[in-house]
Amino acid sequence: MKLTVVGGGSTYTPELIDGIAGRRTSLAVDEIVLVDPDEHRLSVIGEFSQRLLDHAGHPARVRTTTDLESGAEGAAAVLLQLRVGGQAARRSDETFPLECGCVGQETTGAGGLAKALRTVPVVLDIAERVRKVTGPDTWIVNFTNPVGIVTRALVQSGFRAVGLCNVAIGFQRYVGKLLGAAPEQVRLGHVGLNHLTWERQVLVDGVDVLPRLLSEFGEDVAAHIGLPAELMRRLGVVPSYYLKYFYSHDEVVATQRTEPPRAEVVSLVEKELMGVYADPAVVTKPEALSQRGGAYYSEAAVQLVHALTGGEQGEEHVVNVQNNGTLPFLPDDAVIEVPSIVDSNGAVPLPVAPVEPAFAGLISHVTGYEYLALEAALHGGRDRVANALLAHPLIGQWSIAEKLADQLVAENADLLPWA
Ligand code: G6P
Ligand code: MN
Ligand code: MN
Repeated sequence: MKLTVVGGGSTYTPELIDGIAGRRTSLAVDEIVLVDPDEHRLSVIGEFSQRLLDHAGHPARVRTTTDLESGAEGAAAVLLQLRVGGQAARRSDETFPLECGCVGQETTGAGGLAKALRTVPVVLDIAERVRKVTGPDTWIVNFTNPVGIVTRALVQSGFRAVGLCNVAIGFQRYVGKLLGAAPEQVRLGHVGLNHLTWERQVLVDGVDVLPRLLSEFGEDVAAHIGLPAELMRRLGVVPSYYLKYFYSHDEVVATQRTEPPRAEVVSLVEKELMGVYADPAVVTKPEALSQRGGAYYSEAAVQLVHALTGGEQGEEHVVNVQNNGTLPFLPDDAVIEVPSIVDSNGAVPLPVAPVEPAFAGLISHVTGYEYLALEAALHGGRDRVANALLAHPLIGQWSIAEKLADQLVAENADLLPWA
């Protein structure tokens, strides 16, 4: 089978290739095409990817191209992992909201909105061009952030798309290591929206170990997600580490004001990674890659592609999928992140027990914001941007939303089709 990776010049690509190389029997890939506008990155990442496969004894061939259509033609699945505007745009997302006392983050708050506005038009154009050459049945696996909003845009435009994030698989692996269990033994009662989720159950061989995690391992888990153990115990759940931007918003802002933005750190890691990738003697995934946030992203991707392309038998994966009544307090067309049964017909959410008000309220609030964010991304206009900001639970005030809207548009003028 042929796999196409759009944004294949990303420094994350070797992570994905490593995952494919390690799963030769479960995923029969014989061609991987990396598509990217950056020819230099393509050549370095492409050659390194081939060395990784060769070294693992995997027969797949890697091809690189700047031409989306020829890259996607005949693909069984197309993976989207792009970043419009690169680390420079990310740096802006992470810094301009701070002036208003708001969190600077690339997937939530005003920065997340900026990223959505830049990204949705580009991703929809790519999906349209891909569909022309692959036909309508090819699966799109979307890792492009903000995954919830981008996936919603794809699905409501009629594309066959599933959204994926590594938060759930990362927590599954973490628990496995902590308790000495294999990842397959661990199932999560994971609920919410992308980057806004809570684990309400952690089943190891069918037994809920969440109470034990909170009592015996509270401090360890707390350090892992960056929130106090007492908060988790009170809520009786494990929030994802993205919830620190909500539950510890002002503290995060205070810290962010004293530290270099993540974009700067990542740029340095990327520089180092590109140097390592370019060395013909290097044939395995370098240690520096583990400094990126995308750990286990490759496992999740490989498992999901396997389920979507081959599996007659459904497999359970945590994915971003249309709600369709799963969370009855949300519109059907909202995109949620929950365990789902995935096979070649797509992903169907498993039933979810009634969500407690403490979580349902925030989920509803952010879903309202995501709807307005998508309106702004699809139709443009400064006031639509301000409306989305006003609806975001981390912003919510008129004067701040007005100021952030103007700043966001000014910062991104070159990357917004309507500005
Ligand atoms: C996690 C998130 C991804 C995000 C990444 C950022 O993996 O799930 O959605 O892109 O972190 O990692 P970085 O190394 O770029 O900060
Ligand atoms: Mn073309
Ligand atoms: Mn993610």
